[in-house]
Amino acid sequence: MELKKKSLVFLLLNVLIRCIASQNVTTFYWVVSIDTSHVVHIARWPKVLSSFGKLGHRSQSVLHPSGTKDILTVNGEFPGPAIYRHRGERFNVNVRNEGKYNVTIHWHGVKQPRNPWSDGPNYVTQCPIKPGANFTYEIILSDEEGTLWWHAHSDWSRATVHGPLIILPEQGKGYPFPQPQNEVPIVLASWFKGDVMEIIETALQNGGEPNQSDAFTINGQPGDLYDCSTEGTFKMMVDYGKTYLLRIINAIMNEEMFFMVANHSLTVVGTDGAYIKPINTSYIMITPGQTMDVLITADQSPSYYYMASRAYAVVGAYDNTTTTAIVQYNGNYTPPSTPPLPNLPNYTDTDAAANFTVRLRSLANEDYPVDVPQTVDTHMYITISMNTLPCVNNSCDGPDGSRLASSLNNISFVEPSIDVLQAYYKGINGVYDTDFPNEPPYYFNFTGDDLPDTLLTPERGTKVKVLDYNSNVEIVFQGTNVMNAAENHPMHLHGYSFYVVGNGTGNFDNSTDPTRYNLVDPPEVNTVGVPKNGWVAIRFRADNPGVWFMHCHLERHASWGMDTVLIVKNGTTSSTSMLEPPSYLNPC
Ligand code: C2O
Ligand code: CU
Repeated sequence: MELKKKSLVFLLLNVLIRCIASQNVTTFYWVVSIDTSHVVHIARWPKVLSSFGKLGHRSQSVLHPSGTKDILTVNGEFPGPAIYRHRGERFNVNVRNEGKYNVTIHWHGVKQPRNPWSDGPNYVTQCPIKPGANFTYEIILSDEEGTLWWHAHSDWSRATVHGPLIILPEQGKGYPFPQPQNEVPIVLASWFKGDVMEIIETALQNGGEPNQSDAFTINGQPGDLYDCSTEGTFKMMVDYGKTYLLRIINAIMNEEMFFMVANHSLTVVGTDGAYIKPINTSYIMITPGQTMDVLITADQSPSYYYMASRAYAVVGAYDNTTTTAIVQYNGNYTPPSTPPLPNLPNYTDTDAAANFTVRLRSLANEDYPVDVPQTVDTHMYITISMNTLPCVNNSCDGPDGSRLASSLNNISFVEPSIDVLQAYYKGINGVYDTDFPNEPPYYFNFTGDDLPDTLLTPERGTKVKVLDYNSNVEIVFQGTNVMNAAENHPMHLHGYSFYVVGNGTGNFDNSTDPTRYNLVDPPEVNTVGVPKNGWVAIRFRADNPGVWFMHCHLERHASWGMDTVLIVKNGTTSSTSMLEPPSYLNPC
């Protein structure tokens, strides 16, 4: 009886707190629907540099049936709406699904303290919002500051359903760098001529590679290097002598990207919603899932300059096109016949990728301190591999008739039919297993050439790793060359950002490599590129109880099983435990 009373009081209190809290919380209303009006022209190939004369005015669109199509959008916008909030605020987003596919939305890089309920990954923290249904996400910001983003997290719907989530300093506070004249989101995305949901569905059925994208876009437009209408090429107007903040988001599906602006140098001041020690560079390498805050000063002779981005890709087939936008100086001058293009690193320039990434350091000062775990309670060593699965009569589209797959520690993740969070919270058995291993099942020369075929086949399962509340965790991700398919894998963890304390090429050596860790000012990120045939060591304190997805942010790898789930147990008090579920959960 006493217990019942107590829990009733607790419940009422909880409702009361939620009511009070919700009074000051902004709610955005979003409709996910099929947009037939959005026109991106990708008409004829191969690419031809269009004459520059067209850029100054709206040219007549050259419509081609394959160049326009229906896409899934939020509120009819592509990229989707930008959300601007101050550090530490809360807000709600009601998402109504008027499209024809199931959908969920994820707040990429938002830690959502104690609130996995609104994190979004399909069948991990929720069942999907079905056509006709809706769900209200409660987004809780904490110490994130800078550029993050949001995206759909169900099948491949994120291709067009994504947008910026910009977290300004607290009211009345400034940036740890001079206030820029203006700031501009730069969203890099993939454009597919076909229906993305069908592309991945077909690929998973047939066991082969999904189609590549047909273009990349900057803020929704492919730019002048594609033979399509240039009417919408994104332009950024600048005043000579002023400094601008680019908030760059890599929302691309399957490629890491190099990005440059012709004749201008870049100063990177933040990544993944945390500040870094400024880096001066001519180019950046940004993986899907990452964001970068970059200052650029308009210090060249007033003219037009291209910003451009293309893939950093080392294996197999990839989209090798280049997307552009224009930096245009205000003033009176004769526009160039063709703006200069930046000289981007080569597609396969792994050194260029590494030389940039290795420079990242947390700002780590009094105002923006770091809290790097100096000791470790739980060590995990996780191999990242491409694999194949046997296919009946060798009739699939993978190598030798097999089915393509991928894995972490040789486990290829299988999406359950009830979300892991619900199963965990309600104690429903049979949805997942808790035996995701702390190390790979066998050791071999992970980065060697021509590895034996016996290593090709992974185990399939919905395996999760359970972590104690507040334990210090170190994960070493080890890239492998299984299938001769070594490449860079952008590993992303939900519910946390983590410190990248070390990285290197070849196999991780657990006696010598840790001695070279940076435990002073390592970058704090939510997505890290594990270098091709190399390793990365990350650390974090498991202080956010909940169910958190961890996966490669290359969409085809995630679809093939390069995923797992971390369940972080509750602490001993209610303030160190998961929040109660919201009153409405979407049924499975
Ligand atoms: Cu942007 Cu599960 O990720
Ligand atoms: Cu990957």
